[in-house]
Amino acid sequence: MTATAAGPLIGRGFDRVDGRAKVTGKAHYTAEIPLPGIAHAVLVGARIGSGTVRSIDISLAMAAGAVAVYTHENLPKVATVPPVFPSGFGGIAPGQTFFPMQDNVVHYYGQPIAVVLADTFETAQHAAELVTAEYDRLDPVVRLDDGRDAQYQPEKVFCGLVPAIQSRGDFEAAAQAATHSVDATYHFAANHHNPIECSATAAVWDGDQVTVYDATQGVSASQATIAAYLGISPGNVRVVAHFVGGGFGGKAMIWPHVTLAPMIARELGRPVKVVLTREQMFHGTGLREEQEQRITLVCDDQGIFTGLRHHKLSVTSPFDDFAEVSLGVAGQAYAIPNWDARYRLIRGNTMTPTFMRGPGEASGMLAMECAVDELATDIGVDPVELRLRNHAAIDPESGHPWSSDGYAECVRVAAERFGWSAAEHRAGPRTDGNWLIGQGVSTAGYPVYTPGQPQRAHARLLADGSLIVQAGTQDFGTGVATTMAQVAGDALGIEFDRIRVDIGDSDHPNIAAAVGSMGAGNVSAAVHTACTDLRTQLIGLATGDPESPLHDRIVQEIECRDGRMRVRSNPAVGETYSALLARHHLTDLETIGTWFPPSGDAPYGKISFGAQFAEVAVDPELGLVRVRRMVGAFAPGRVLNAKLARSQILGGMNWGLSQALMEATLADARNGAWANASLLEYLLPVNADAPAVDITFVEVTDAVVNPLGVKGLGEIGMVGASAAIINAIRHATGKPIREIPVRIEHLI
Ligand code: MOS
Repeated sequence: MTATAAGPLIGRGFDRVDGRAKVTGKAHYTAEIPLPGIAHAVLVGARIGSGTVRSIDISLAMAAGAVAVYTHENLPKVATVPPVFPSGFGGIAPGQTFFPMQDNVVHYYGQPIAVVLADTFETAQHAAELVTAEYDRLDPVVRLDDGRDAQYQPEKVFCGLVPAIQSRGDFEAAAQAATHSVDATYHFAANHHNPIECSATAAVWDGDQVTVYDATQGVSASQATIAAYLGISPGNVRVVAHFVGGGFGGKAMIWPHVTLAPMIARELGRPVKVVLTREQMFHGTGLREEQEQRITLVCDDQGIFTGLRHHKLSVTSPFDDFAEVSLGVAGQAYAIPNWDARYRLIRGNTMTPTFMRGPGEASGMLAMECAVDELATDIGVDPVELRLRNHAAIDPESGHPWSSDGYAECVRVAAERFGWSAAEHRAGPRTDGNWLIGQGVSTAGYPVYTPGQPQRAHARLLADGSLIVQAGTQDFGTGVATTMAQVAGDALGIEFDRIRVDIGDSDHPNIAAAVGSMGAGNVSAAVHTACTDLRTQLIGLATGDPESPLHDRIVQEIECRDGRMRVRSNPAVGETYSALLARHHLTDLETIGTWFPPSGDAPYGKISFGAQFAEVAVDPELGLVRVRRMVGAFAPGRVLNAKLARSQILGGMNWGLSQALMEATLADARNGAWANASLLEYLLPVNADAPAVDITFVEVTDAVVNPLGVKGLGEIGMVGASAAIINAIRHATGKPIREIPVRIEHLI
């Protein structure tokens, strides 16, 4: 897409402004930033899953060239260990209420017990291998089955933000009165994020100021968290993240290595860089917890859902009551009057689980949408029709209308593009040689979260008519800088190519960490606000200026196009921004725009909806599954960039395939380690696994969620994709699926 075509910029599929830098290697990721005099830090992880460190021997490491080794005996204490979400999303975000090496207790395998510093990475790595520890061991609990007997009922999950028991109506009464029901328990393996770029942090002190280069999904969150741990003002901490190689939630929280770098750099008096290995990514940056979800869905003789019981049991850490919020959209997408939802937990020897790709809904909607499909089979109703019959016209939880919907339209559009036929589906699978061909459907939903803090951006118009836009956000693959230029360009009537976007620096105005599909909504709201504020200033300057052709015009008469303000009804009357600034001896005009999000109790249900279809081929003798094609339709509100949006969803749908068929981290029960902590043994789809994918965006206008009506699409591509695949496998084989991921052994 060229940058000069006429018309609004928002929506068009501009190439990424930083795409060329990325593919030519000019983009420096954190570990690649050259920093003179750096000491390389390598973490040493505990080799037990639970117990205490009796002693650590660092003598061989020092003899091998280490310049320093820090352990619980000499690492400074942190100033505070803050709660995980002290003020909702956007501020201090430590990920867990535990910081290593403050004492000798080991809570999970791989927990850092030493940090080895050396002049070269190779020396540090070698010396780290020579550190030996003696332990007093306890038996670790890492697997759900090992802790099942010790499960407990927390009051809240998600670290204090979500009640663990929720209900409406009377599920038991609904179950008594129902004519049909399905009762199924789905087991989900633990998962790990696995972005391509391993987490890395480098810290450089200058007096009492520290600059931290960090691979993070939130520069401001990193800044606030480091400051809290070190007991210094956030004003003394600057965090820079120009490029981040994927996050998927694993870089949303600020894990201990991020603070260890500046802490040790201060002790050593020289810059320090730490880069996690792939294995350390599995033990050091959170996870999606192993979980079990039991669903009981009941309906009347017309197939109208009357009740849903949805209980989840999952493994959390020794210190935090965390469960991903799996029972949300599943209980809201359908008009179910009687709902009984409950989270129970097991304390395991793992890190505190965290956000991961479609956090909550990717697992919760999988269980729900598989149960819906089984019910459809039981009562002989087409699964597409059953979903349309039951979709909630208003939010059943709050009783409020949806801020915008699009559910039914997504189902219809995707069904048509897929070529769904109720009659063919009822007739059972086709065959293709040895393959059974099955088709499946699922719907998708992801909440539109609202940030707890104002979102800010800086806009600065220069006298030559070019614009600089800055915000404290960061790109981890989403293309946010490109969309910022589009939003700014439309607000001010400036061409795309005349806008420079700066991101990835906590010195820029504050934006919440990009989590929960909030990034595009938050950033576009801030940039739109900044640029419309600046536009108001410019128009005010012109209309108040007797020398301007726009003198004494009213604001509503004026539009901005091509760097020029003009009278809407008579475009010849007007002047350029440059002319205006020059006449006023202004080198520039700037503003910081602040978007104040609507308060949490806005009277609307806010969910992005979508629909997914999949066709699979199953070899029933070999238990092989191949996904042949996927079709998705989504209603994410305003689409800022058609190409980036499609890419985001394409990735999400393939991650759904990955969830359904591949991703599982398995614990070694002897020592609590993740046994397959490498990209060789943690299965992920490659190009040969990827099916043909067809993606459509269904337009919905949303006047509630934020100024541009951006509901977000960071997660929803993943939600439902896995359920559509699993439903297609059940269609092909007739076998109900209870294990996620589905593997060969479950099918033969
Ligand atoms: Mo997203 S998994 O909340 O970073």
